[in-house]
Amino acid sequence: MPAGFHQLGGETVTGTLALSVFTAVLGSLEFGYNIGVINAPQKIIEDDYNSTWVHRYGAPIPAGTLTSLWSLSVAIFSIGGMLSSFSVGVVSEWLGRRKAMLINNLLAFIGGSLMGLSKLCRSFEMMILGRFVIGAYCGLASGLTPMYVGEISPTGLRGALGTLHQLAIVTGILVAQVLGLESLLGSEHLWPVLVGLTVVPTVLQMALLPFCPESPRFLYIVRCQEHHAKSGLRRLTGRQEVGDLLAEMKEEKRRMDMERKVSIAELFRSPLYRQPIVISILLQLSQQLSGINAIFYYSTSIFMKAGVQSPVYATIGAGVVNCAVTVVSLFLVERMGRRTLHMLGLGGMCSCAVVMTAALSLLDRVPWMSYVSMLSIFGFVAFFEVGPGPIPWFFVAELFSQGPRPAAMAVAGFSNWTANFIIGMCFQYVADLCGPYVFLIFAVLLLFFLIFTFFRVPETRGKTFDQIASTFHQPSSGGMMDMDLDLDKTSTELDYLGEENIN
Ligand code: GLC
Repeated sequence: MPAGFHQLGGETVTGTLALSVFTAVLGSLEFGYNIGVINAPQKIIEDDYNSTWVHRYGAPIPAGTLTSLWSLSVAIFSIGGMLSSFSVGVVSEWLGRRKAMLINNLLAFIGGSLMGLSKLCRSFEMMILGRFVIGAYCGLASGLTPMYVGEISPTGLRGALGTLHQLAIVTGILVAQVLGLESLLGSEHLWPVLVGLTVVPTVLQMALLPFCPESPRFLYIVRCQEHHAKSGLRRLTGRQEVGDLLAEMKEEKRRMDMERKVSIAELFRSPLYRQPIVISILLQLSQQLSGINAIFYYSTSIFMKAGVQSPVYATIGAGVVNCAVTVVSLFLVERMGRRTLHMLGLGGMCSCAVVMTAALSLLDRVPWMSYVSMLSIFGFVAFFEVGPGPIPWFFVAELFSQGPRPAAMAVAGFSNWTANFIIGMCFQYVADLCGPYVFLIFAVLLLFFLIFTFFRVPETRGKTFDQIASTFHQPSSGGMMDMDLDLDKTSTELDYLGEENIN
């Protein structure tokens, strides 16, 4: 093995691979940062909206108008994400993965600048527009990053490197929560810096992307540029001889050339894709409808209701648990597999939701229940990161071969962002209606997703894209999904990166 390269799970991690993955997940960091940044400084930014109103109209802003403006500032982020995530397929095929990421940074610049300058310009409209534009950036990043990382990763590390997308998201959330403390940047004068800081990873990503190779799978299978694909593969693997990797792509290309171009409608029409696309959508829904963002958007008020002494620090505690468990998941995902971890996570979240409900309903009579509810919230977050957090993001890229992948990523991203928007908009109303029992709704949904995963979701660990796609080509795949897929029957002889490599 050449000097300077590292062995991980039986695969070689070259400097180029590490740099490319790091550069790509800077987009995920920014995504997380913008999820978390709006939580802590809510009061202070609202005060500024009010002073703008006074400056313009000579009277304080009506309470209802302020609530609407704030809700819009929060929720328009997901609308931006929803709209742009739908175009991931078209953009990534048109520009290529790398150039699409590069150009997407323009949106981050515009969004960050609009938000950062909104106080100076006394314009809450700029803040709202900025949240929309940065949401659009995040929608594209949430599709482009896992797609690029999935395509450049060696088979035995696809899950671990795919989890880095989620790790960067949760790191972004935590950084935003900490910087958002009033003693740091969440203050009256500094909040524009807090929201404008999002351009820092943008600049770094733009500086580093030119040193990262374009996805060789994209170059070879979509653009037919064998020569460029080969040189990218050599840089990513550190090997001169990449014939085996190319042979696998050739096989995938051969199949793709026999199929028609896969549009979004085709994904639902064709029996080949119907099952994986349904699995993809349900996995995204299992991530969002688990109720995780009810915690991340409203944690401070949830902790307050649970009688926790310092809700802001409890929120940061949840952020720390979130990060720590994602790191654990990173090491487990190539050992235990996606399916097992996802089910473990869903089951754990479901149990925590039940305990949380019991604790919240007993809170009036038993004061120490506030500790139980806080611990169950931490447990809820921890189990989320075991599986439902990281896995759905990269699983979609794994389930589809090169042809249908971009369209599938668009559909999956759109489902994720739509569910995210629905939770963001509705949770507070439903929580007011259901009181301490609100998390029971999530418990029921989690149970449903657990059963679905058990019966329908295949294991993809250690399989090449082509092998995974073949699973759905089998006649038996029309029925109930075999839990232990015998892929040897369907694989080509190209099983060069089998499970033996993963230790
Ligand atoms: C996932 C979700 C995101 C959520 C985050 C929490 O990335 O997509 O909506 O806020 O996890 O860690």
